[in-house]
Amino acid sequence: MTSASPVLNDQFGRRISYVRLSLTDRCDMRCRYCMAETMEFLPRSEILSHEEIGTLARAFVARGVTRIRLTGGEPLARRGAVDVARDIGRLLGKGLDELTLTTNASRLRDHAQGLREAGVERINISLDTRDPEKFSHITRLGNLARVLDGIAAAKDVGFRIKINMVALKGLNDQEILPMLEWCAEQGFDLSLIETMPLGMIDEDRTDRFLPLTQVQDELSARYSLIPSAHRTGGPARYWQVQELGNRIGLISPLTANFCEGCNRIRVSASGQLYMCLGHEDNVDLRAALRSGDPAAVDAAVDLAMGRKPRRHTFDLTTPATARHMSVTGG
Ligand code: 5AD
Ligand code: SF4
Repeated sequence: MTSASPVLNDQFGRRISYVRLSLTDRCDMRCRYCMAETMEFLPRSEILSHEEIGTLARAFVARGVTRIRLTGGEPLARRGAVDVARDIGRLLGKGLDELTLTTNASRLRDHAQGLREAGVERINISLDTRDPEKFSHITRLGNLARVLDGIAAAKDVGFRIKINMVALKGLNDQEILPMLEWCAEQGFDLSLIETMPLGMIDEDRTDRFLPLTQVQDELSARYSLIPSAHRTGGPARYWQVQELGNRIGLISPLTANFCEGCNRIRVSASGQLYMCLGHEDNVDLRAALRSGDPAAVDAAVDLAMGRKPRRHTFDLTTPATARHMSVTGG
């Protein structure tokens, strides 16, 4: 028996209504700011089953979670990802308001229609450059043509699309303005992201760090950015780009801390519940799921609420965590 309150409130009074569920820690790319060239991935036996992911989704929605995002790694690199989406999509209108997905789009052509049918209406697509050579350099394994084809397919089936672009000094800084303009033509919003010190990579992140405060000044010199009340439940602050008609979001964990309004938690593909992207502490939902005690998941989630930290304390020179973003889920 649990005396749990139906909704999730953390120790600082923040209401948790948004859960990101990672379907896999694997990815078919190796973006330099995200991963090392050689990565060790979890053996399949450690990964939650479809049924377990569905059980977790239902447990969270029963506790007042209204938004679920499927992440990875690359979520579509998991076989049956669309089946998982379809299962969770059944909760839409029954407590769940929105089901979304973050993807690198490499396999989106094959899955766009299925995801739409599962009830996904909005997706975030990672695209750091539209230059084929730079794309190969940044992603090491990615193929730009395939990604652009996936994006076109997603547009065709009617998703609302936001492009996520990690701002990388000396790599894609000259492309931010053209990317914003291309997004406007396509009917997409754009979010820029500061590199975060998560996991060891093969280079020094400080070399590529581009503060978005600076980018904002540069963009403002060219376009009228009107602060927007638009919120997607994530950490981005948005501006309406008056001349272009789309929105630009800035995700600035280093130059503008957003933890005070944090409403989210993340579950890794192996069922660890991470209360914060920037801390190691986690609660083992897989053990709870497999304990045979139907109240164990609720109890574990309650435990996590009492341990969610106030904020991350990112410092670019040292990884805040040993795990990469691809483990916790973007
Ligand atoms: N810092 C910032 N963004 C990152 N991403 C992956 N790793 C990092 C990092 N260390 C981005 C991906 C994707 C989003 C989920 O997070 O490019 O767009
Ligand atoms: Fe894969 Fe996304 Fe990480 Fe790139 S940033 S390696 S696409 S998980």
